[in-house]
Amino acid sequence: MPDVEINAERLLATIDRISQFSDAPHPAVTRVLYTATDVAARNYCRDLARAAGLAWREDALGNLFVRLPGREPDLPAVGTGSHTDAVPYAGRYDGVVGALGGLEALRSMQEAGLKPRRSLELIVFTSEEPTRFGVGCLGSRAMTGLMDADAIGALRDGEGVSLEQARRDAGFAGSLASIVLPRDAYAYFVELHIEQAPRLEAADAMIGVVGAIVASATVRVRIAGSGGHAGTVLMRDRCDALAAAAELVLLVERVARDDASPDAVATVGLLQVHPGASNSIPSAVELIVDVRETRMQVRDALLGALRQGLETIARARGVDVTWDALASNPSSQSDPRILTAIKQSAEALGLSHMRLVSRACHDTVFMAQRFPAAMIFIPSFKGYSHRPEEYSAPAEIVAGVKTLAATLLRLAET
Ligand code: HGY
Ligand code: MN
Ligand code: MN
Repeated sequence: MPDVEINAERLLATIDRISQFSDAPHPAVTRVLYTATDVAARNYCRDLARAAGLAWREDALGNLFVRLPGREPDLPAVGTGSHTDAVPYAGRYDGVVGALGGLEALRSMQEAGLKPRRSLELIVFTSEEPTRFGVGCLGSRAMTGLMDADAIGALRDGEGVSLEQARRDAGFAGSLASIVLPRDAYAYFVELHIEQAPRLEAADAMIGVVGAIVASATVRVRIAGSGGHAGTVLMRDRCDALAAAAELVLLVERVARDDASPDAVATVGLLQVHPGASNSIPSAVELIVDVRETRMQVRDALLGALRQGLETIARARGVDVTWDALASNPSSQSDPRILTAIKQSAEALGLSHMRLVSRACHDTVFMAQRFPAAMIFIPSFKGYSHRPEEYSAPAEIVAGVKTLAATLLRLAET
């Protein structure tokens, strides 16, 4: 198996450079879908591919595809990729390591004159994060046909702007239906990503061989009370929407924590209060519940318990509630052939590795519904992610990219 000489200095410089496209002060990174910084980061990746003489294209949502042609270009390719968008006040490595690491792998192979049997293709996915439209992994959902093009175009952000309008304003035209990939587009798909949890660090292992990705779901809950003046409405006469929401937030924590499964997690990360005045009783609250578990049926049982609990709170407090399932994502099991190739590559590079489950959602969970897929993780300092302290050491990043490159080449010769 040819060893790919990764240009570590160049790779790390690109990761440093892309972190400067941000709407938050350094070291935080904010890059929300179709904002100027999001588009600048995509264009940066595109320009690197163009400068390297690699073939590239963008689809109607802005997914970027960069291809290294193989000896048998008509064969299904080996795909890799990740994302460059970032949640508010995130770190510098989430998604970026796989997007720019994959690009560096292709550039290094091109420079080495490598021509694997199967073509290799990098994807920089659009909107892995749910930040703007409430649904994540829009690029991978669209290209696998797992989300209907019209439904994607009709999504609206907090200001009521449709995704259709936002993508056109960002310069992406064309029919959304044209995005769906042929079923034989890829023989394999492998994503490199930071672990975003502390298990590799705790085990002093360099490479995570990801066997499965959890099933996540997000629900939008709206609670309507009666509001009023904070001074003149007596406590017995109140119908406080935020007090009801507070009961729900604690129920979300309790249901997940007390569940028999240690893999059950649930979070309320977004909560908006109306009218939002210190001397007005909250009349309406909107919050988003994020529930995850490795098994869909356990996740759905958690959701059922929360919905029942919400109805109980509504009856007890006299508030009106609505429950909208925004996303109910599948889990995925990795392809054993890819897991073997990752392990062989790590061992050939003298890198320690361990088997992991991903509790974060990734584009791979959707790619895995259509193509054999798996993931490679590198360590995250103290497991930090979605916060500015997120960190992976240069040696860890380079080890991950070398493992990815070797894995892609192994798979490309099958
Ligand atoms: O939510 C997630 O797990 C990912 O960061 N989008
Ligand atoms: Mn993320
Ligand atoms: Mn990510």
